[in-house]
Amino acid sequence: MAHKELIAGLNEQLNREVTTFLRYMLQAASIKGAANEVVRELYLEEVKDEVGHAQYLANQIVMLGGTPKLAPDLTPPPTEIPVMLERDAAAEEADVKNYVKLAELAEKAGFYSLKMQMEEQAADEDEHRHEMRRLLG
Ligand SMILES: [Fe+2]
Ligand SMILES: [Fe+2]
Repeated sequence: MAHKELIAGLNEQLNREVTTFLRYMLQAASIKGAANEVVRELYLEEVKDEVGHAQYLANQIVMLGGTPKLAPDLTPPPTEIPVMLERDAAAEEADVKNYVKLAELAEKAGFYSLKMQMEEQAADEDEHRHEMRRLLG
């Protein structure tokens, strides 16, 4: 298959997104206390962003002739807020790099709208990362 590497990369990132929105959903549910409401709101908002990213990736995999294969990491998330934010900021940073790589692969294959969407998702993750770092102080 001509776009094997691209489809494999999109599927890998799909699994990262699904893993992320499941984790953020559980972390948002576990956060209590008025003082922590900002962090809870951040995770609730980001669940929606990550679901949107996952949906786009799943659609593209099918459009390129692939089949989305789900194997999310279901490790229970941490319960301490600083640990959550630290780990998630690092994961968001890795996602930025993955999307930049996917944008390059898409451009090489001549899929320009896919390339631009990958760049947009890289920018979203970069913003998530900055928000988390800001909350860490
Ligand atoms: Fe995402
Ligand atoms: Fe994100």
